[in-house]
Amino acid sequence: MATGHKKNKEYNKGPHLILIGFMGSGKTSIGRGLSYKLQRAFCDTDKMIEAGENMTVSEIFRSKGEGAFRMMETELLRTIRDDTSPKIYSLGGGTPVQLQNQPLIKMCGTVVYLRITPEAVYERLKGDKTRPLLQCDDPFAKIRDLMAVRTPAYERCADIIVDTGDTEREDVMEDILEKLKEAGWKIPEVRKTEKESDEDTGDKRSQS
Ligand code: S3P
Repeated sequence: MATGHKKNKEYNKGPHLILIGFMGSGKTSIGRGLSYKLQRAFCDTDKMIEAGENMTVSEIFRSKGEGAFRMMETELLRTIRDDTSPKIYSLGGGTPVQLQNQPLIKMCGTVVYLRITPEAVYERLKGDKTRPLLQCDDPFAKIRDLMAVRTPAYERCADIIVDTGDTEREDVMEDILEKLKEAGWKIPEVRKTEKESDEDTGDKRSQS
């Protein structure tokens, strides 16, 4: 049966695990932890952009402007979409907001949205100087307003939603792994980290 001429190349859903969420939701920290548990490389797109430009995100915002940074994010998403070796990527908090990025993000792989409240973000990022958007007189109002605008974009992109903020990092990771299993992912059997093994040994000693 004729399907008609396809103007654009079609993409299957990619092999990556993509972490999205507001600044301070724990994408980098959770991504690093999951890298061990899933035995996959972890990449932080802010760090990739910084390495490519040889500048920090703050310097890029200052010297080239936010618009230029947003174009770099979109360009990088295309590279991630075309990367066939499965990885974990954490995206900057503003990446899902650009409309043209949303289909790209979904094509990259399974998208996990780390949901957090404005109050928890404020507590975590009080005094942070690395997020140019929060260098203002009333960072809490800025967080609240940005989050109100961004939440629908995060929800649109997400395959899986997990709550962070009041939850321990280890529990957030377990929650994600559980939901990935439900979605049909094979989770590798990995040895415990050195720290966890030490804690186990301690437990056994105290029981004996
Ligand atoms: C931004 C979030 C930052 C970084 C830049 C802009 C945003 O990343 O990309 O400062 O618009 O929310 P993190 O979410 O990793 O902090």
